[in-house]
Amino acid sequence: MNERAQRAIAECRLIAAMSEEPDRTTRRFLTPPTHDVHAHLRRRMEALGMKVQTDAAGNLRGLLEPPGARGRRLILGSHIDTVPNAGAFDGVLGVVLALELVQELIQNAKQRELLPIEVIAFSEEEGIRFGVPFIGSRAVAGRFDPALLALKDADEVTMADAICNFGLDPAHIAGAALDANVLGFLEIHIEQGPVLEAENLRLAAVTAIVGQSRYALTFTGRANHAGTTPMHLRRDALAGAAEFVSAVESLAQSAEGLVATVGRVEVDPNAGNVIAGAVRVSMDVRHFDDAQRQAAVQTLLETAKAIAGRRGLGLECSRQMDQPAVPMDERLTAFLAEAIEAAGLPARRMPSGAGHDAMVMATRVPAAMLFLRSPGGISHHPDEAVLEEDVETALLVGCKFLERLAAGAR
Ligand code: GLV
Ligand code: MN
Ligand code: MN
Repeated sequence: MNERAQRAIAECRLIAAMSEEPDRTTRRFLTPPTHDVHAHLRRRMEALGMKVQTDAAGNLRGLLEPPGARGRRLILGSHIDTVPNAGAFDGVLGVVLALELVQELIQNAKQRELLPIEVIAFSEEEGIRFGVPFIGSRAVAGRFDPALLALKDADEVTMADAICNFGLDPAHIAGAALDANVLGFLEIHIEQGPVLEAENLRLAAVTAIVGQSRYALTFTGRANHAGTTPMHLRRDALAGAAEFVSAVESLAQSAEGLVATVGRVEVDPNAGNVIAGAVRVSMDVRHFDDAQRQAAVQTLLETAKAIAGRRGLGLECSRQMDQPAVPMDERLTAFLAEAIEAAGLPARRMPSGAGHDAMVMATRVPAAMLFLRSPGGISHHPDEAVLEEDVETALLVGCKFLERLAAGAR
């Protein structure tokens, strides 16, 4: 029985119930349930004696500056937005465990004298509402492009309006950027894949985060009657998009290390007896090697063009993200590996196939990530889980990491 691990898991499940939808967890950027998450986390941060503020990008930030604390601060955190029909741990676990670590620090007077800590619950990492991920961490890293404010969600609400509707002022986003007084960033996150479970390991230090490209493609044909229009006289946007979806899968299957996904399809008018007039699809392409990722993107865009040309369809492609692979900081990662060993475990190091706030934070400050095994390798799904013993070990490793960092920072 482990009280603090059980408490952390219960808290993640409690937060998962703060959702846009009644029976499943969906919490996109600054949608109303985000207020509930903020209220909950704010209470916890204040109870720990942290100074709390929400920045203009909707990140909730708690600062612990214990009496006698000196030097630069460590930032801990992860994101609180989710994919639709999400699990309870992607992102939120990293925030909840950060607060557990703060609690440990407060109980440890020696640490308290040494290390100021900021915990950040990033407002957005998944890219679901506006098609562009990392809104929260871009702002904190000072990498937020104000042009993003004009993007619209599925209800035609702009990002600027979404921020205003939440009670914040997008004109102040530049003020969310970090000052120079930062030692580094640590994100604790579930692996979201099957590797640690297959190797019967609890934890790993992340070495690098894969690069990713995201695009939106719109195939335009002509909507017409499904009963009266002969096959050879159709311009079926959905048939073209379907051919493209298969091509994306085939290319990724044939190239080592490449993953490519069409996860979203919007069909207009989306009726069973109408040939589709327009179809918008997403494309997500990832590879550890940036050149190979970019080559795959080029091939797929050319494939889309060829399909559209052959079928008499229009095609529009817009790039939403082109994020290079990002290495984690060697020194912080070495501290993390030492902390894992000090907890009596093998210091497994592994890359991350998922994107994380740490990849944006790494452009500004030294960043490291600790992965926890994902039972069944499942994530972005309600069955996402963590094991109590892994959570407890992650907290132990987190404490040992903070000790090392504090000693190294002296
Ligand atoms: C974030 O979850 C991603 O898509 O990698
Ligand atoms: Mn995710
Ligand atoms: Mn995540």
